[in-house]
Parts: sequence; structure tokens; C-alpha cells
Amino acid sequence: MSSNYSVTTSFAGEGLRGCIRVPGDKSISHRVAILGALAQGSMQVRNFLCSEDCLNTLRAMQQLGAQVLPGDAPQNFTLVGTGMNPTAPAHDIDCGNSGTGMRLMAGVLAALPFTSRMFGDESLSKRPMGRIIAPLEMMGAAIRACGSKPGCAPLQIEGRGLRPVHYDLPMASAQVKSAVLLAGMLCEGTTSVHQPAITRDHTERLFSHFGIPYSVSEDGLTVSVQGPAVPQARDIVIPSDISSAAFWLVAGSIVPHSCITLEGVGLNPTRRAIIDVLLRMGADITVTNVHSEGEPYGDITVRTARLHGTDVRREEIPNLIDEIPVLSVAAAFAEGTTTIRNAAELRVKESDRIATTADNLRRMGGCVQEFEDGLAVTGGAPLSGTELPSYADHRIAMSFLVAGLASAGSTTLRDCENINTSYPGFEAQLRSLFR
Ligand code: S3P
Repeated sequence: MSSNYSVTTSFAGEGLRGCIRVPGDKSISHRVAILGALAQGSMQVRNFLCSEDCLNTLRAMQQLGAQVLPGDAPQNFTLVGTGMNPTAPAHDIDCGNSGTGMRLMAGVLAALPFTSRMFGDESLSKRPMGRIIAPLEMMGAAIRACGSKPGCAPLQIEGRGLRPVHYDLPMASAQVKSAVLLAGMLCEGTTSVHQPAITRDHTERLFSHFGIPYSVSEDGLTVSVQGPAVPQARDIVIPSDISSAAFWLVAGSIVPHSCITLEGVGLNPTRRAIIDVLLRMGADITVTNVHSEGEPYGDITVRTARLHGTDVRREEIPNLIDEIPVLSVAAAFAEGTTTIRNAAELRVKESDRIATTADNLRRMGGCVQEFEDGLAVTGGAPLSGTELPSYADHRIAMSFLVAGLASAGSTTLRDCENINTSYPGFEAQLRSLFR
């Protein structure tokens, strides 16, 4: 996405201080839109992420016949499900920038009795869709990747009755796992997925919420769903997104004299490795007021601390995959070297995040070594503010705006409209913390 929207950060105040509530969780919002739209009955949804990505998914499900009745704020509404009686979409479905939206909806659309077509923006049209087409074709789906790049969107889907399978995921991907499980929910029999490492389990937790019969093996690696099953609508409050909170966990750690409290943040054990890794680096983070309603959540307070390098463990990678750009920024302000390997998946995100993170760190004077599957960042040298590209990637834009807060001079991120795909209001919340 290209635009003229640039953001500049420079900070010479006393510190970042305050208490904020970051917007709702992106992964959970997509899934609530999809499952709630297929559900029997209506439900109150609170704290839905009103970002472009999730609104695209919600609009897609409205095209299938779900209704959205406004509530007291844009993030609160009533979702009226189709009771598993969706209608064929009248138009091609626009997934915008969202891999999650497109991949999860593909699992559903493949099993519904009509033809549909999904497309995305320039970045999404380059991302691999073969990873969901392969297992869905094993189930009998007819999906054609029509993009100019082989195996990429637009996707043309001739929906039909599918058959259950067991699928061994070749990569640790919650999106692929979820696409297969959603398709499995819609077909007769038991569909199971084995993952090489534990990935975020929001689909499974929402299966519990909506009364879909499923089970998980003792080691957590194999998930099975018994279909066909109709989700039963039930009110839900979506916690704040820990991936958005991560920007403040790093900003609060590296900007001197800071103290930031983040309220109601999702603390799902498959998502909170960013906290563990920052604590290992010496961060001053405390978690309080922990509650659990389907998903655990709580308040997090971060204060400035002296950080030191660490090795991120293989099993931590899927748990903090989206936080690696901002973790790399933290590493640039830490003493010693932080090593992140086994993260080749970063190359097929909204941008090639190994290359774009390394490039922007170097442009600021950081010391970084790039590997095929990760990065080693050596901190210590002060970074200098400069003008940087966003690479049409929301997390790159926000990560380097955070870096700019703790660097000399001012930092400008060009073309950062894309921040709205996951974090509308980021800049305003940033400025609200300036003291
Ligand atoms: C997501 C899973 C991850 C993550 C993405 C959201 C999800 O992608 O990077 O932002 O909601 O399932 P992969 O499953 O492709 O690793």
C-alpha cells in the first residue's frame, strides 16, 4: 500500500507514562467474525478490533448473510448468525492486507455450496496460499489460485461437500491449522491436524465457546474436530491484543523514565512469549489482575530497564512470531547480542520481515546479521533517527516508530497508512504517553 501518510517520532520529554487500553485482539476478532456469522442465534461482541483487516473479514461474512447491528461504540455490536445457512456472496470478497482473513475464510468457503472469489492487496497477492490449498484439496476442495504469482491470490473457490482428513502441517502455522479445522467443522467425521510446534490456540478456545466438539492430544500438537457442527452464538468480550501491547512493552523498556500500564491485555499462553523473552532480557514487567473467560487477560505494567541480549528458543518462535520486528528493536538497545533463528516464516509475512527489520535497523546505525531463518542483533551503539520506509508493513512501521523514540534526532516512517490494518489509533495513543 502506498500513501502519503508519514509519521515522525522524536522524543525529548521526561518519559512515556500513562495507562492505555490497546485495541482488541486481531486473531480473535477474525475468528469471532467467522464463527459468529455461521452461528445459530445472535451474540453481543465487545472490543472487536475495528481495523481494516478485521473489518474486511466482518464485511465478507455480511456478504454471506450475517447481520451486524450497531452497539454503543464501533467495537461493540450484535452479530446475527446465519445458522449455518449462508448465502452466496454477491461480489468478490476483498481481504485487503489480511493473510489470516483469506486463509481462514478459504477453509469455510471451500465447504459451502456456492462459488466465491477472494482477492487482496499487492502484499497479500504475493503471499503463499498453496499452504491452505494443499490440505483443503486433500479434503476434496476445488480452489484455484489465479494470481500472477503462482500459488497466490485471487482464489477462486467452488464450494462443495468435503471429507475429513488427518493433516500433518509442514510448518507451525495457526492460520493453516485453523483453515483445516474450520473446514473440518463443516464436514461429516473427524478432521485432525498435527502441528510441528504449538501455535496460537484461539480457534480451539472459540470452538469451546461456540460449543463445537473438538479435542487436543496430551502433547498439545494434534487437534481434532468432529463435524458437522453448528456454532451456537454466545456473547463475547475480546481481550486487547498482546501483539499491539508489545510495542509499548518495548517502548516502555527502552525510553528512559517510563512507566506504562496496559489494561485488559490477552495473556493466552500461546501468545505471551514476548513477555517471557523481555523478562529474560532484564525488562521490568509486572502482570496483575489476571482473569480468564475463555481467554486469559490482565493488566501489564512496564518500567524502563537495562536490557541484555538473549537467545530466543525454537519453541518460542511461533508464540512471538508477530513481535519479532519490535523485539529486534529492543535488542538494538540491549547490551550484547540477541539471536533469533528458526523464524524463516518471517519471510512470508506482510513484508519479508527478516530483510525489512535488518534493513531499517542498519539505516539507523544498528548492528545486525541476517540469516536465512532469522537475525542476530547486537545492541549498545546508539541509534540515530532518520527517514525510513514502512515496506507497506504495519508492524515494521510501528516497530521503527518505537525505535525512533529512543534514538537521537527524529525518525520518520513513510507510507504508514498500513498501521490501520491492525492498530487504528496507534499514533494518538503514542502521543498520549508523552510526558
Ligand atoms: C495468525 C497466525 C500467524 C500470525 C498472524 C495471525 C492467526 O500466522 O503471524 O499474524 O491469527 O492465526 P501463521 O499462522 O501463518 O504463522
